Amino acid sequence: MPDAYILGIESSCDETAAAVVRSGEQLISNVVASQIATHQPYGGVVPELASREHLKAIVPVVRQALAEATQTLNSLDAIAVTQGPGLAGALLVGISYAKALAFALDKPLIAVNHLEGHIHAVLLEERQKGNHELQFPVLALVVSGGHTHLYLAAQKNESWTYENIGHTRDDAAGEAFDIVAKLLGLGYPGGPIIDRLAPHGDPSAVKFLSAQIKHPDRRERRGQKEPDLNRPRFDFSYSGIKTAVLRYVEVHNMRDSIEVRRRVLANISKPKLEDYSAACDRQTLDLVASFQRAVVDDLVGKTLAAAAAYDVATLFVTGGVAANSELRKTFEQRGAQEGVAVFFPSRALSTDNAAMIAAAAYPKFLAKDFAAMDFSAEASLVLR
Ligand code: KG4
Ligand code: ZN
Repeated sequence: MPDAYILGIESSCDETAAAVVRSGEQLISNVVASQIATHQPYGGVVPELASREHLKAIVPVVRQALAEATQTLNSLDAIAVTQGPGLAGALLVGISYAKALAFALDKPLIAVNHLEGHIHAVLLEERQKGNHELQFPVLALVVSGGHTHLYLAAQKNESWTYENIGHTRDDAAGEAFDIVAKLLGLGYPGGPIIDRLAPHGDPSAVKFLSAQIKHPDRRERRGQKEPDLNRPRFDFSYSGIKTAVLRYVEVHNMRDSIEVRRRVLANISKPKLEDYSAACDRQTLDLVASFQRAVVDDLVGKTLAAAAAYDVATLFVTGGVAANSELRKTFEQRGAQEGVAVFFPSRALSTDNAAMIAAAAYPKFLAKDFAAMDFSAEASLVLR
């Protein structure tokens, strides 16, 4: 099989990214332009601003990815782009640019599901390390700012299939990190800040209950099959813990000190860990540590229960929250105890990037599963 150089383009949320990957197994270049500074004053992603920033960044980011890969537009074999899920306006920027390139260069265009991309980030890096011996099926936990999804992923010839066996009923785990950080005056995005502060607090100081979901999800999900009630499901819920943190803050009269912290941190252009910890009292550090411990225990417990129920020995944990140190350590320890091999992407490929899109496109390239020029962005694209 000759080498295939695929340019990946990703613009589903607040990162404009482009990367070149060879044959789904070697990362040649990986450029990510983050919009964090743009959205930070608003404490979350503002969709209109995201689209505008993508428009500004897309051309230089793609040029840089090609230059770093010592490739040219003409030397590429295909162009891959995220079709969804994500912000419609943001997705459209990447899609329009990818279509224009594919049309002008007469190259195949490949549409990729963002969640499939997160799963293939792990495969890309394992293959790059020379690990071609993964046992299938794989259970994949995609845990990010927009998703907390469990898939059974299997490969048949070139094509991949994904069966959803669990998802969040309300907030995604990353969203809970972001909301709790915002509530405590710690800024945006919350995950990396809470990750670094949590080791300084006592994780057993505040007790949070894990959401146990017994009833089937009866909401209609567009484009999704009715779940098979005979297949066990492992759903998540994080809106309860968010409310519990809010109640804790109110009951313990923490509002004023949060406001002081918010103002102190807003006056520091790039706060360091020392600035964050100096701005936090013990009660806040304990709350942060307890919150993180509760979310990690819930994610790890439900995911390993799903691995046992489906008799799966290989687990991928991917998406922005997979960068979390305590989550990684806990999955590794408990996975080893239960005989499940756990794989993560490097931290750089845990959060949004385009290498994962180029990697996920490779099996589609081999299968000649190309997108028509009139395909459109799908904000709620389902992975199956
Ligand atoms: O995958 P991603 O970059 O974008 C989405 O597809 O959503 O994930 C971003 C999310 C944010 O909610 C962010 O707070 C969270 O991942 N995150 C983390 C960490 N790094 C990023 N959460 C916990 N610990 C981290 N170290
Ligand atoms: Zn993502």
